[in-house]
Amino acid sequence: MLKLDEPVLSDAEAADIRSYLEAQENKTLLRFLTCGSVDDGKSTLIGRLLYDTKLIFEDQLAALEQDSRKHGTAGDDIDFALLVDGLEAERQQGITIDVAYRFFATPKRKFIVADTPGHEQYTRNMATGASTADLAVVLVDARQGILDQTRRHSVIASLLGIRHIVLAVNKIDLVDFDAEVFEGIAADYKAFVKDLGFASVLPIPMSARHGDNVTRASENTPWYSGPSLIEHLETVDIESQPAAQPFRFPVQYVNRPNLDFRGFAGTIASGEIAAGDEVVVAKSGKKTRVKRIVTYNGDIPRASEGEAVTLVLEDEIEVSRGNMLVAPDARPHVADQFAANVVWFGEHPLMPGRMYLLRTETDQANATVSHLKHRVNITNFAQEAAKSLDLNEVGVCNFSLQAPIAMDPFEDNRTTGSFILIDRVTNATVGAGMILHPLRRAANIHWQALDVTKASRAELKHQKPAVLWFTGLSGSGKSTIANLLEKKLHAAGRHTYILDGDNVRHGLNRDLGFTEEDRVENIRRVAEVARLMADAGLVVLVSFISPFRAERRMARDLMAEGEFVEVFVDTPFEECARRDPKGLYARALKGEIKNFTGVDSPYERPERADIHLATSGREPEDLADEVENWLRERGYC
Ligand code: ADX
Repeated sequence: MLKLDEPVLSDAEAADIRSYLEAQENKTLLRFLTCGSVDDGKSTLIGRLLYDTKLIFEDQLAALEQDSRKHGTAGDDIDFALLVDGLEAERQQGITIDVAYRFFATPKRKFIVADTPGHEQYTRNMATGASTADLAVVLVDARQGILDQTRRHSVIASLLGIRHIVLAVNKIDLVDFDAEVFEGIAADYKAFVKDLGFASVLPIPMSARHGDNVTRASENTPWYSGPSLIEHLETVDIESQPAAQPFRFPVQYVNRPNLDFRGFAGTIASGEIAAGDEVVVAKSGKKTRVKRIVTYNGDIPRASEGEAVTLVLEDEIEVSRGNMLVAPDARPHVADQFAANVVWFGEHPLMPGRMYLLRTETDQANATVSHLKHRVNITNFAQEAAKSLDLNEVGVCNFSLQAPIAMDPFEDNRTTGSFILIDRVTNATVGAGMILHPLRRAANIHWQALDVTKASRAELKHQKPAVLWFTGLSGSGKSTIANLLEKKLHAAGRHTYILDGDNVRHGLNRDLGFTEEDRVENIRRVAEVARLMADAGLVVLVSFISPFRAERRMARDLMAEGEFVEVFVDTPFEECARRDPKGLYARALKGEIKNFTGVDSPYERPERADIHLATSGREPEDLADEVENWLRERGYC
């Protein structure tokens, strides 16, 4: 029986609706991002696109008109930027601060646009917003032309695998719709990007504010015969993607609700899979077959790129989170060393030798840059020698990981070929990487198992190996206390050794100075030496300023659990400068020594030292006793 409020459709109407829905479903999707400097008009452009494609609801529009009047940034016109710049804070500062995704559609295509900001953190937001983009709209102000930031955006877009560029020469109204200005900028840009490998580059003269050439051809630019932005976005050919890629399934998590079910959940990064297909676990090389492909809507016979599924395998083989199920005949690389392009967006520079957390789609490992091969000069693509990478810089690095990951070169697969870098102290995302190729260098070196072990060496000495890590300013008393403590330990029959900054810098580290890069390397080496000595069964006393948390943390992580004891020798700067045992403070304060800790180079105080020695008013002997007692109470000696 029909209910009265249910509309009754004729067959023809129903067919219309069905074909409409199908058309929607079958529409291709174009992902693009906008990038430009502050004030180039990105947000205005996106607002204009949304407005002209009629996606703003009436009430939003009313609010917008009101807001525009309140902020008064666009006279009596509607300020489209306000529509997009959602956050109040942004409005106050007049900049966009986070990546915002907008969805809209025209009769021909669906669109997702990532609005990426133009202020200092633009590389981070670009790298985040662009990871799947097909096209980038690079905005320039017609009055200013190509800027450094335009070049940087374009280089990064190319590194991120974006194949199509629209150069939006915006604010063309403000140069009186002058064809020559446009042609000049377009020619400059084309010359600049010719080696960046884009499949298409289209300059369009535009006024986002007034709508010229955004959704329809402008009468103000009769000399421009190309498409409007939206026409181009609707028709640009994004189908010609690389040939069908091999199956890659990074495992997000192991789904084991009960003993009868064990499935591996994730999103297919590339290729396709059918029940019965053979798959290989990338890292172990174990082979099996897919028994079932499970989804929320039940089992399906096959699935392909982009689909989120749970795979049930025929055999009970070990596949942990982060591993990858892959096609047996086209496997990814499994390596712990590789070369990659890096876009750096840490406030603090990238330091070779410093440990970062490297995270891929589902996997992670501790990683260091073992070699910074070069920095890319973004104005002429020259490869420049560099010791570190600053905010927004781009370079090629060799990476060394503590554990291998499965990966593909970025040019083969944007998902399995990319990673981000995380600062282990602040947890901030500080870089994005695109893998070039694995390095085989280490593949011929295997760990040699030895019969006399660390435990047996330590046992012979009747002691527990330990690394007592003294950190503090120069002249704080580290070496004095370490020296007294070693005498006590020695007298008690312990086998010890002191690694002292000044001494090690006479030999092993004689090539290092006091720049941040050199100090990172200084500590990396001494931490490795301390580890070898602990492995020999010794109690090692390390006395280095070791000013950076990241390196002290790295040293701690190198040692066995409980083996690393951080001793903070906390003497105020003024006191160290007053003592000035080597006369260095006096010279540093006069500017005769550069990068002096506490003067023009930072000291990052330990937040949770195992032993905190507040030295003021205390004798070294007394402080050494305190450390000895601490060690004795905890069974170290
Ligand atoms: S660290 O920062 O890299 O850990 P390290 O402990 O090896 O430093 O060396 C510090 C010693 O080098 C100081 O005790 C001091 O004698 C000497 N020195 C010379 N120049 C500097 C400087 N610019 N900063 C700090 N120490 C310096």
